[in-house]
Amino acid sequence: MTLPGAPFVARRDGELELEGHSLAALAREFGTPLYVYSRGAMRAALAGYRRALHGRPHLVCYAMKANSSLAVLQTFVEAGCGFDIVSAGELERVLAAGGSADKVVFSGVGKTGAEMQRALEAGVRCFNVESRGELDRLDAVARAAGRRAPVSLRINPDVDARTHPYISTGLKSNKFGIAHGEALATYRYAASLAGIEVSGIDCHIGSQITEVEPYLDALDRLLDLVEAVEAAGVPIRHLDLGGGLGIRYADEAPPAADELVGRLIARLDARGHGARELLFEPGRSLVGNAGVLLTEVLYLKRGTAIDVAAGAARNFCIVDAAMNDLMRPALYEAWMAIEPCRLRADAAERWDIVGPVCESGDWLGRDRMLVVAPGDVLAVLSAGAYGMSMASNYNSRPRAAEVMIDGPRATLIRERETAGELFARERLLAR
Ligand code: LLP
Repeated sequence: MTLPGAPFVARRDGELELEGHSLAALAREFGTPLYVYSRGAMRAALAGYRRALHGRPHLVCYAMKANSSLAVLQTFVEAGCGFDIVSAGELERVLAAGGSADKVVFSGVGKTGAEMQRALEAGVRCFNVESRGELDRLDAVARAAGRRAPVSLRINPDVDARTHPYISTGLKSNKFGIAHGEALATYRYAASLAGIEVSGIDCHIGSQITEVEPYLDALDRLLDLVEAVEAAGVPIRHLDLGGGLGIRYADEAPPAADELVGRLIARLDARGHGARELLFEPGRSLVGNAGVLLTEVLYLKRGTAIDVAAGAARNFCIVDAAMNDLMRPALYEAWMAIEPCRLRADAAERWDIVGPVCESGDWLGRDRMLVVAPGDVLAVLSAGAYGMSMASNYNSRPRAAEVMIDGPRATLIRERETAGELFARERLLAR
């Protein structure tokens, strides 16, 4: 079986490589824990969406929560993408990376008045509004600023994305979006507000989705609404189908982006909506398999053979990356492939790969058959999405460094944080 991230992630002569660069050599040069990304892999992932959308009015808005490092954003700015943001902080990052606000859609259930004001002043393309309360607040902020806020209503289509409950968002029981049954009335209401200009409709049903059907169900529900809303005299210019396409971590077989988008377009055409502008908000599928997290093995701690065989003890491979660097395993029990950067010839043993953080939940992988020795470098694959962007400083651990590979070049795009930076904004009390 090929490695997740292939062909950009590959093994040559026992040596693990990303876009042709030895990962062990990068770990030596830049230290660990280290995130390494392939620009080529990001561009290739984007090209899948682009192929299917070619010749149609569209905007791919990279959901930057997946990885908001400036050089990653710059990569998508240069490729002509827009961005899906969920906070004013993300907007500042887009602008710092050279992006323009008129390609930004602002999602999220809890935008503050200050965030709305900043986004209006910067001139974002659209606010994806998730409740009536938010609509009222945005209307007031826009009128106070003497503007009209372009709005799309995020509809909760009540379809099951069949993914992990923490990352499923399109069910009635989730906090997201406006219920399908209330959508028409909410559009009428939006159209009546002086500070609001209805622009589109959107949905996002979840993440790490590996089938096309939930998307088709959501699209049908959305198109029913578009027809009803337009019949009520409120024109809908664009259709935003969100993000959510899954990637291969283990043996998942998600559709390719061009297949997914192609099938959605076929449905749109069949229902006579082919001319509408299409927006997508992919995150994970653009960057997930373009990145790895490198970590050095610190210590091996074996249980006694009898206890391990009885399940009463385990073998721990203690590494220098932890749940604060990569939260997905601890938070979702996510399985992510772990590969040694250099293969050894000895017999494999069963290991739990754990970090230095003082929590039993601090693991990166469990029950992995590996040959490891202190000083070896391991790579956690598929770590380009929701890795660095979810990192924390728990246990006062400075965040990892990041390197971007672009053809022959490997560039440090984020310096390793220092301990001093962690408490630079703190103050001691007067003695
Ligand atoms: N649009 C909206 C409104 C979203 O909430 C999200 C993700 C996306 C787009 C992008 O979804 P993607 O294409 O990346 O699936 N931390 C979790 C994933 C949380 C996703 C949150 N929303 C994880 O590590 O699996």
